[in-house]
Amino acid sequence: MIYAESLESVTPSESIAPMPPRRPIDFSVAHWWRRVPGQQWPRQAEVLAAIDPTLSPLFQQSRPLAEVHRLDLALFVVFEEVALRVSGALVRRAPTQDALSFAAQQTLDEAQHYEVFLARSNQARALSGLAPGGIDPAILAPPLRRFVEHCYEVADRGDFVEGLTLTNLLLEGMAYPLYAYEERYWQPIDPYLARLVRFAFVDETRHVTYGAQLVSRLLFDDHAARDRVAKTCRQARVALREAFQYYIRVFVGLFDAVARQHRDVFADAELAPGRRIADTPYAEQVQHILHAIDSEHRRLLARAGLDLAL
Ligand SMILES: [Fe+2]
Ligand SMILES: [Fe+2]
Repeated sequence: MIYAESLESVTPSESIAPMPPRRPIDFSVAHWWRRVPGQQWPRQAEVLAAIDPTLSPLFQQSRPLAEVHRLDLALFVVFEEVALRVSGALVRRAPTQDALSFAAQQTLDEAQHYEVFLARSNQARALSGLAPGGIDPAILAPPLRRFVEHCYEVADRGDFVEGLTLTNLLLEGMAYPLYAYEERYWQPIDPYLARLVRFAFVDETRHVTYGAQLVSRLLFDDHAARDRVAKTCRQARVALREAFQYYIRVFVGLFDAVARQHRDVFADAELAPGRRIADTPYAEQVQHILHAIDSEHRRLLARAGLDLAL
């Protein structure tokens, strides 16, 4: 069995290592309840309670730093909201008991992520004199906006496998390798956010791993459905990859400029273990992150039996 606590012990940097071998997964809500709300969340709350959530005064002194911080938080909020709304909608049309239980528990995980990132985003906005809540729709680049609309159409149509594939294997599947980088980038200046990212990563690892196994099972003996989902996957992956490339270039560019401006704060910030941001040119940082996403994502799709999509 793959248990929440075994996934929790995986650090984001280790996520780039091969995924655990396929084993039966206990999808029940009872199991999730014991491991996640019962154990994982209280442990995480204890860790967070020991970190001062106050934002560093540097966010008020450095406008570029405040801007890249707000942009990143806004993207977290957008992604979590999509995952929440789609997983909630998929509960309605789950075709098996395992699928039903998993969609239900993922909905709660995502609701929790959405709340914590929205709260941090509001805190960052307040520091810059901005009203809470309002995520500017302009932050959604056209390829991402089209992808999100497609996710909602599929969820509304009630296509469970396609909805799960789009959300867990594409949106989350491409995003979750990024969490390791996010955690390392923010650690020196916003360690509270770095922890939130780390804790969400634990859940996202579960969502993509469980999602891949469910998709693989649901499509096992239905070749026509697998071809259809693989085709959707192939098309959506191209569009989403374009969106990720755009955001990674923007984020790394902004962050790199900020890190060079505040060398004292970010002197030891790392792109990867043992590799300092300050010693890594911008283009190399971007290539490194894109390569990590691509290789991890290929592995994930292969595990879901969607190699045809590559
Ligand atoms: Fe999430
Ligand atoms: Fe998720």
